[in-house]
Amino acid sequence: MRTDSGYARGSLLTVDGLGVDEVARILELTDRLAEMAAAERAKVLAGRRVALLFYESSTRTRTSFELAAKSLGATTTLVSDKSSSIEKGESLKDTGLTLRALGAECIVLRHPAGGAPFVLARTTGLPVLNAGDGMHQHPSQALLDLRTILARLGLKDKSVDEHVLEGVTVTICGDIRHSRVARSNAMLLPRLGAKVLLCGPPELLPEEARSLGGVEIVREFDAALAQSQVVMMLRIQRERLAGLEIDLADYVGRYQLNEERLRAYAPKAIVMHPGPMIRGLEIQGEVADSPQSAIEEQVSHGLDVRAALLVRALVRERRVAA
Ligand code: NCD
Repeated sequence: MRTDSGYARGSLLTVDGLGVDEVARILELTDRLAEMAAAERAKVLAGRRVALLFYESSTRTRTSFELAAKSLGATTTLVSDKSSSIEKGESLKDTGLTLRALGAECIVLRHPAGGAPFVLARTTGLPVLNAGDGMHQHPSQALLDLRTILARLGLKDKSVDEHVLEGVTVTICGDIRHSRVARSNAMLLPRLGAKVLLCGPPELLPEEARSLGGVEIVREFDAALAQSQVVMMLRIQRERLAGLEIDLADYVGRYQLNEERLRAYAPKAIVMHPGPMIRGLEIQGEVADSPQSAIEEQVSHGLDVRAALLVRALVRERRVAA
């Protein structure tokens, strides 16, 4: 198991080893920041510098980290692989050291290689926030998903402990194999008492996924839905398929979350998707737009949770946000 210990305090590299107490503290800080008036909030990280280092495309994650940092008064700079010396072959280590020399105090990293945030944290000594590394982890997504679930189930004001999601079953359906979102959620949610069902065809959900522990594989979507209070849909990650062929018509027939299926098997379930979603493939547009959908709420919670993660990374004396 690889955890955050040994790296700069305030780093969030993986949910491995992220204790329930720490999750509770992050969510409390999220609430406190969300309740602050804008002017007060803008003082929390005034004058601090945050670098956003993105080697892969992103809409929600990048924008929410950036807007969260700005709302706290921090200065942000975006370095993306498309327009920087990364294109000229500069290594992650040298890019990180350059950002540190320029005064960056925290780096938010998205990278196609699993484990890259650990390398960056080690070489720079700075707090690093993992914004998605390859097929490995997406810890801030798991935290924002958790906050969305707690809010939708009316549990937001309950204390977050290992029982808070007892009796809640969450189905994660789709391309589990390539999904860092699935991995982080499947590790985090059972720690809070939830039951996690993974659903998808063997090509996209190998039997080895059981090794995540605390999860069950249910191949038949309708059977998984019938047990679930929450259903999280995932995109097929075409960019990571590496020659794997999927019969899309067959996939849609078996695994698309459509109105008919939702009405028949999970008429009250909360529908989630980390985005980007492909309407008409893993999810029908009508379902994404329905009252059951919490997809836009996930995005808003992302802004709040990422603000807390930035404060956690940059403020030693967290009383400042009380
Ligand atoms: C996901 C990601 O990049 O891991 N998106 C996100 O961060 N919200 C999922 C995906 O790319 O399908």
